[in-house]
Amino acid sequence: MKRRNFLKVSGLASAGLAVSAEAKPLEQRRLISGAPCVLSTWRHGVDANKAAWAVLDQKGSALDAVESGVRVTESDPESQSVGLGGLPDREGKVTLDACIMDHESNCGAVAFLQNIENPISVARRVMETTPHVFLAGKGAYRFAREQGFPHTELLTEKSRKAWEKWRENEKAEKPPINQENHDTIGMLALDAEGNLSGACTTSGWAYKLHGRVGDSPIIGAGLFVDNEVGAACATGMGEAVIRIAGSATVVELMRHGYSPQQACQEAVERIKAKHKDLKGLQVGFLALNRSGEVGAHSVYAGFDYAYRDAQSEEMRKASFDRNW
Ligand code: GLY
Repeated sequence: MKRRNFLKVSGLASAGLAVSAEAKPLEQRRLISGAPCVLSTWRHGVDANKAAWAVLDQKGSALDAVESGVRVTESDPESQSVGLGGLPDREGKVTLDACIMDHESNCGAVAFLQNIENPISVARRVMETTPHVFLAGKGAYRFAREQGFPHTELLTEKSRKAWEKWRENEKAEKPPINQENHDTIGMLALDAEGNLSGACTTSGWAYKLHGRVGDSPIIGAGLFVDNEVGAACATGMGEAVIRIAGSATVVELMRHGYSPQQACQEAVERIKAKHKDLKGLQVGFLALNRSGEVGAHSVYAGFDYAYRDAQSEEMRKASFDRNW
């Protein structure tokens, strides 16, 4: 598609997000690869980034870094939206979704996986040892067990009590999307070779219908990596992210000249345009391009992310459109 047409289709003008005059589509730009860095969604990203940075600092691959990083959050029983200790569905079952993608566009995913603590590593095993991309449910569990992953009870006492309390007050209404029940870890990394990888893992929307799968395991929705351009991941209401192929959209916008920040903002604009009612509809995007430039934007205030490189280790606030 010609660039002029692309801009027309993108609704860029209506979103009021002008691309800078210097912005050029990828074929006219040379993105010089940046120094190693890692970023991940929410405060639990700090510890996850430490593990990822230990890999990157030793000149390890971005792929190893993101897997090691998000495993920390998956195995943390205090993190109630990812892995062990994740809040269950309305039947009291903890069901996990995850995906991983590398610099050669290899990818693997698992969804509706139960009783396995580290779905990200199962996703990587799907990517590396099968001809498939995506395994779900019982088949994913059986595959994980065959691969040597132990059976683990994922419902902790704390999460069971929270679920029981929710059941007492349940009014068949959707539980709110907020930091406490929906904060998925998405992680993006750039390594010393200039390669990008990403990982995304979650227990999903707390008290969801049994069988519900969100954006996190869907390549192009919860996560997307294109080593020529950049990488993106999403957090928040997965249903809304899926509707706009969120992370693939962010990466594609970067290919067409948007900075990572502009790309995240435009993706949020598209979500807003597709929903009449934005009440409680929180979605946030993170983006990283080959040069190491970062973007982060959400519908509502409160989305923050952890960043780490050789010079800095910090929490950063994403820009946002609305206060709650
Ligand atoms: N973004 C996580 C989910 O909706 O499941």
